[in-house]
Amino acid sequence: MKKSGFYYRILYERVFDPIALYKVSDGKVIFIDVNPAYERVMKVSRNDIVGKTFNEVWPKAEPRWSRVIRECLKQKRTMHCIGESRDAGSYLEAIAFPIPPDMAAVIFLDRTKLKHSNNNLKDRQKQLRALAAQLTLSEEDMRRSVASDLHDCVGYDLISQLGILREIQASDDKEEINRLVQILIDNTEKIISENRNLISELSPPVLKEAGLNPALEELAKNILNPNGINWRIIAKGSSDEFKADDAVCVILYRMARELLINAVKHSGAANVNIIINRKPEVITVAVEDDGKGLLKSNNKGFGLFSIRERLLALGGNLKIISEQGNGLMAVMTCPLKLKNGELFHDKDTAG
Ligand SMILES: Nc1ncnc2c1ncn2[C@@H]1O[C@H](COP(=O)(O)OP(=O)(O)O)[C@@H](O)[C@H]1O
Ligand SMILES: [Mg+2]
Repeated sequence: MKKSGFYYRILYERVFDPIALYKVSDGKVIFIDVNPAYERVMKVSRNDIVGKTFNEVWPKAEPRWSRVIRECLKQKRTMHCIGESRDAGSYLEAIAFPIPPDMAAVIFLDRTKLKHSNNNLKDRQKQLRALAAQLTLSEEDMRRSVASDLHDCVGYDLISQLGILREIQASDDKEEINRLVQILIDNTEKIISENRNLISELSPPVLKEAGLNPALEELAKNILNPNGINWRIIAKGSSDEFKADDAVCVILYRMARELLINAVKHSGAANVNIIINRKPEVITVAVEDDGKGLLKSNNKGFGLFSIRERLLALGGNLKIISEQGNGLMAVMTCPLKLKNGELFHDKDTAG
């Protein structure tokens, strides 16, 4: 045996991936040899299969595997194929090399992990696409809800004010005019308050005027009090010293709103803590409840997914810590300051 043949033999014997040598005789693919890895992975013994045809050894095999061997031998060049193998119980890639004059060596590589990560990537792409659609829809919902509030409350009130003004114009009874003016005043106060609520729903003024901590306090009051949930805010780190960008505050506020609504909707909790922790570079806002916790099968909603995606886009992240029956803590982490142009870009593409 030539020295190079000896080294090939060692490689063939020691390599962790299955290798088989084949030949075509009378139109049939025949096993010439297999390495120890082939015996181990495919659970066959070399002595039982050498000399047998591919079909005798693997009667139920997918046709792609024998096809790749035939094509390699026919075209005398390296061929490859990839797919599920029922016999190996995994996702395999086969690379067939011609060995002159008439043999082919095939190495089988286990690509199951690659397949899973590809599948995960595809799932994630699908979710992102759905998120984009969902965002458009929720923007549209928001517009519709503002339009309907304007129509039902402010619009309706203004029409009724106009009616009263016309009555005043037509009346010369001073007492009646005084009564109508009082109605006008009451209605105007109502319109102002409705208008304030509408503005606050669109863009909470307390966030701009007083900052994130008081805004979260107001949010907790509005969302948790009506549902009889006790709550407290625990704030660490000075909000003057570690001031977050406006965009960061708005996003954390919106996301905290989703988490508080989740606590109301899903947790059955009696107590909620909102923990705001500011450090020199990052801010974390955690919403912790003492409810029933997250069921493993139940964490596939858009709320948590979209919070996670938005925070990732800012260079932050979302961690969910939960044990069934033991409450849930959602921790949002975000940099205090955004780099220019980072808000709507992925971390990798941001400047
Ligand atoms: N605080 C919580 N306690 C228990 N389960 C929760 C909590 N928050 C979320 N979940 C579970 O996780 C799922 C996903 O939440 P989310 O992504 O916000 O979607 P949605 O609120 O639209 O259902 C919920 O349907 C719920 O089953
Ligand atoms: Mg939700």
